Amino acid sequence: MSSTYRPDGTPPLEVRDVTVRFAGLTALDAVSFTVEPGTVHAVIGPNGAGKSTCFNVLSGVYRATTGSVRFGTAELTSLRPHEVAALGVARTFQNIALSPRLPVRDNLLLGRHRLTRAGFVASGLRLPGARREERAHLARVAEIAEFVGLGAHLASPVGLLPYGVQKRVELARALAMEPKLLLLDEPVAGMNSGERVEMAELIVSVKRSLGISILLVEHDMGMVMRLADRVTVLDFGKRIADGPPDEVRADPKVIGAYLGES
Ligand SMILES: Nc1ncnc2c1ncn2[C@@H]1O[C@H](COP(=O)(O)OP(=O)(O)O)[C@@H](O)[C@H]1O
Ligand SMILES: [Mg+2]
Repeated sequence: MSSTYRPDGTPPLEVRDVTVRFAGLTALDAVSFTVEPGTVHAVIGPNGAGKSTCFNVLSGVYRATTGSVRFGTAELTSLRPHEVAALGVARTFQNIALSPRLPVRDNLLLGRHRLTRAGFVASGLRLPGARREERAHLARVAEIAEFVGLGAHLASPVGLLPYGVQKRVELARALAMEPKLLLLDEPVAGMNSGERVEMAELIVSVKRSLGISILLVEHDMGMVMRLADRVTVLDFGKRIADGPPDEVRADPKVIGAYLGES
């Protein structure tokens, strides 16, 4: 894919001592880790470990009780979801967030709203500048679709596509925002083994070709061991390990946490 929009100067994401308490329960307990620019960083752990809570704090959906999340000069813990997105931090949503009746192309264009200068009014009036901009967005959407293997499906309504293909549309829509950092919550959940391998390869190629940092929240340890540069392991809201995949996989605390899962 062309590097026209390749993000320059992607900063690290620095999660420091983040604690999230719900009534009577500490879902995250002073968790720290750093997502280095241009890497795939996985946060893994058994069910209930605090992975989704962490994801929701990073995307502005949950407020941290204490702690900080810095992305360059921005402090994300005080921002709302659309403000986090405007800084170039994109997340995938579940299928529900896609418009099933609309073709793939339109779903990806919706992902580009934050980049649309002309806006709705000018587009509605068909001003020349707006038309030019629309053509550029359509060309970019076609390029992104090609990159994630959706080239043949641009005109297909999303709801008619197989599940594994819909998951690619989710990823493509996040990429349509031209993010610096991509947050993925269990991107292979519900997929068969063939689809899992394909998605893992796609995630690696997003990193390699686009230089985007990726934070991947995942239950399945096997999945992240193949593609993550670094892994943070949570258990009962606490960080129990943080390091390269090989080191983490051999850590007795990590093995214990996964064995302890019923
Ligand atoms: N909105 C919430 N209100 C109350 N408790 C919550 C909420 N979200 C998560 N929890 C609790 O926080 C803990 C961590 O949950 P979660 O982050 O979803 O774990 P994971 O994604 O690793 O399975 C669980 O005990 C869960 O029940
Ligand atoms: Mg979860």
